[in-house]
Amino acid sequence: MLEANNSASGSSETTATTSSGGSSGNSSAQGEALYAEQCASCHGSDPANGRRKISRGTSASVTTRKHSFVDKSDAQAIAIYLNEVL
Ligand code: HEC
Repeated sequence: MLEANNSASGSSETTATTSSGGSSGNSSAQGEALYAEQCASCHGSDPANGRRKISRGTSASVTTRKHSFVDKSDAQAIAIYLNEVL
């Protein structure tokens, strides 16, 4: 009999709660992914480095005012993420 054994070492990855529901997109994990996707190219992969005033991205409205290409709900998730890491 094969039994699933989850105690294997090396799973240090934080398991994001599955938000497969779609539009509840306000988790910091999502924000982190969105940041890497949409912001890191200009603002750097580590927002804590503070390149180009990224710290103000903790306010979603600042981000969307500055960058019309950013989706509002994306900016919201990114803001949550930035609030955690800055
Ligand atoms: C194409 C390059 C580029 C991308 C991609 C980009 N930014 Fe920026 N961002 C800039 C530049 C340039 C500035 C202006 C810096 C300044 O005004 O000193 C800026 C400024 C900002 C500011 C500061 C606004 C202010 O006036 O204080 C915030 C917040 C910001 N970006 C957030 C984001 C976020 C969040 C993302 C990802 C969704 C993003 N940016 C993606 C280039 C980019």
